[in-house]
Amino acid sequence: MDVKKVVSKMTLEEKASLCSGRDFWHTKAIERLKVPEVMLSDGPHGLRKQDQTKENAGINDSIKAVCFPAACAMAASFDRKLIYEVGRAIGDECQHENISTILGPAVNIKRSPLCGRNFEYFSEDPYLTTEMAASHIKGVQSRNIGTSIKHFLANNQEHRRMSSSSEIDERTLREIYLAAFEGAIKDAKPWTVMCSYNKINGTFASENKRFLTDILRNEWGFEGYVMSDWGAVNDRVKGIEAGLDLEMPGSNGLNDSRIVQAVKEGRLDEKILDKAVERILNIINRYIENRKPDTKWDMEAHHNLATKFAGECIVLLKNEGILPLKKGSRIAFIGKFAEKPRYQGGGSSHVNSFKVENALSVVEGVADVTYAQGYDDDKDVVDEELIRQAQEAAKKAKAAVIFAGLPDSFESEGYDRTHMRMPDCQNELIRRVAKVQPNTIVVLHNGSPVEMPWADDVKGILETYLGGQGVGRACVDVLFGDVNPSGKLPETFPRKLQDNPSYLYYHGEGDRVEYREGVFVGYRYYDAKDMDVLFPFGFGLSYTTFDYSNLKLSSKEIKDTDKLTVNVDVTNIGNRAGKEIVELYVGEKNPNVIRPVKDLRGFEKISLNPGETKTVKFTLDKRAFAYYNTQINDWYAESGDYEILIGKSSRNIVLKDTVHVKASKMLPFKLTVNTTFGDLFERPEIARELKPLVDALKASMGGQEEKGAGSEAITEDMNNAMLKYMPLRGILSFGNVNITYDKLEAMVDEINKKLFKN
Ligand code: BGC
Repeated sequence: MDVKKVVSKMTLEEKASLCSGRDFWHTKAIERLKVPEVMLSDGPHGLRKQDQTKENAGINDSIKAVCFPAACAMAASFDRKLIYEVGRAIGDECQHENISTILGPAVNIKRSPLCGRNFEYFSEDPYLTTEMAASHIKGVQSRNIGTSIKHFLANNQEHRRMSSSSEIDERTLREIYLAAFEGAIKDAKPWTVMCSYNKINGTFASENKRFLTDILRNEWGFEGYVMSDWGAVNDRVKGIEAGLDLEMPGSNGLNDSRIVQAVKEGRLDEKILDKAVERILNIINRYIENRKPDTKWDMEAHHNLATKFAGECIVLLKNEGILPLKKGSRIAFIGKFAEKPRYQGGGSSHVNSFKVENALSVVEGVADVTYAQGYDDDKDVVDEELIRQAQEAAKKAKAAVIFAGLPDSFESEGYDRTHMRMPDCQNELIRRVAKVQPNTIVVLHNGSPVEMPWADDVKGILETYLGGQGVGRACVDVLFGDVNPSGKLPETFPRKLQDNPSYLYYHGEGDRVEYREGVFVGYRYYDAKDMDVLFPFGFGLSYTTFDYSNLKLSSKEIKDTDKLTVNVDVTNIGNRAGKEIVELYVGEKNPNVIRPVKDLRGFEKISLNPGETKTVKFTLDKRAFAYYNTQINDWYAESGDYEILIGKSSRNIVLKDTVHVKASKMLPFKLTVNTTFGDLFERPEIARELKPLVDALKASMGGQEEKGAGSEAITEDMNNAMLKYMPLRGILSFGNVNITYDKLEAMVDEINKKLFKN
């Protein structure tokens, strides 16, 4: 289709109508111009194609498909390649099912453990988030299916999600919340972006020109179209002007006529509407022209991929010599989730799995397993009889594995959690089983951190997150050593909810939610406070051991325009093959601005046989050292020493070195009579200009020596310290100099003209 030509032939009404959905899942067709309708569908960790044969199909009534691990689990794999593969598989399913665009990935930052939708999100860290999202997008789009990275922007809670305003300062937006989108949008070029329900700094995301146009398109070069989250439109005309192209699901034509009216009344430039239509048609076209209706997909093969992926996502949090378990031995499997795992979350991402493998049936033939239900997952009531049965089973076995975590009602789209605890009935069960069986292991199913009051009482802990329909098999594989666990935590598990940096402000007041913790989200906060946490960001164990050596930087000093290459050797010194996630953090040694101790700037997952060594290479550019400077509205890496930290986790840094970075530009500066001497001494060119005055001031301060009872004379150091925070106009009060205020101001003007031309 020649898009421009089609647009030129469209009536105003047709154009407006194309800017909203025909129904819940389709765009509109314009038959006379041969514009077809296309279907959009949730995702993103599997296909939720609503059954077209049913009227008003509910959330769970979608076609049978494969449920891959949810984003919370995917992120724990730190595995770009596998996420790409999963994306590709989903892309094939979409081609087969005639779905033009899958609605995801969702990249909102896990600001608080309480967010009901955390299971759909990747991480508390924007770099990990954006890397995972980019791989997912590239995988799906390699099959010529669109993605819709969502929810743009700052949708970090479910509480009042359609009316709340996320109040965030510019630097925090740039470094945390925008950054989660930025990398993926620039690198993977999603076909579409979905704007969020909430407001950002007082303006609805769906009509926020700054984000939808200025940043998204003008700064980042996004070329696709923006759709609204379902029902996120407030003022449709403002939306079109701001850059919101497609309204979903539509408003029975109401908003279409508002657009028509606005154009007719001269309130909306028709050219803006044309642009929106063009963007939508371009993407429809891309899909139609690359359509592969004969694409086949093999459900079992995708199930196997989901299972393999689930194994890569499992994080071994604790292992006191108990895992892997011996095959053939007598083991008690305890807990409802052994039989009926919680493997995905509730809401719009819910996939109708064609099959689910539970650990209890998979383990048959692997070990001599007895089962006890232990708790109910539909109500939180301690059941003494169920606990008694569990204790009996545990006592008779060599080890007990308790399958626990959060039931559906504890976390879901639509509402937030009210606390960070697991159900009491499960905590009590674990405590009581651990009392009678010293070899107790807990396998967790949850989308977000939980408190673990029993962590010291058990010998092993496995975090599976919400691992998709193959999670049961993946658990058994890891428990009995067929798969060596290799996931690491994409978020911090604080000891208690109150430790979380957003705790005091999370839901805000009414609709106003201030992100007062600023850039100190997740480990950025816990590290700055040197706070004890339950499990740190980036933490995860293996059945083998890795040794790190030979950290090498390509240079000890670089300009901010240069690239730095970092090499490090990793050796598997254990006796089993395994995978290791190598993490690279950068921390500025003496920053002039408030900034985190370190930020994750690179990671690689490598596979090593026993005795094998591989060199892992990272390339860092200016952005790895920079913070967002709001004076110049740009990223700025100030001159200084930066530590390159190689870690097994954020709290286990095994190698480090320092690089000096030289900024190619100084920040703009303007001397005033209130500039402190400390600040101007940092600029020798100014200090030089003012030397006679400064000398006179120093001389007169030196002459003011006082001796109090028992005190020493004011030393030169003390004088210098006092001078440091004194403004230049202090010369008038303390300097023995013959100069007036006006004269000083004139001098300042001269210096500014001479040195800074601003
Ligand atoms: C969710 C989106 C989802 C859409 C369509 C909304 O309520 O926030 O993530 O894609 O519904 O189901």
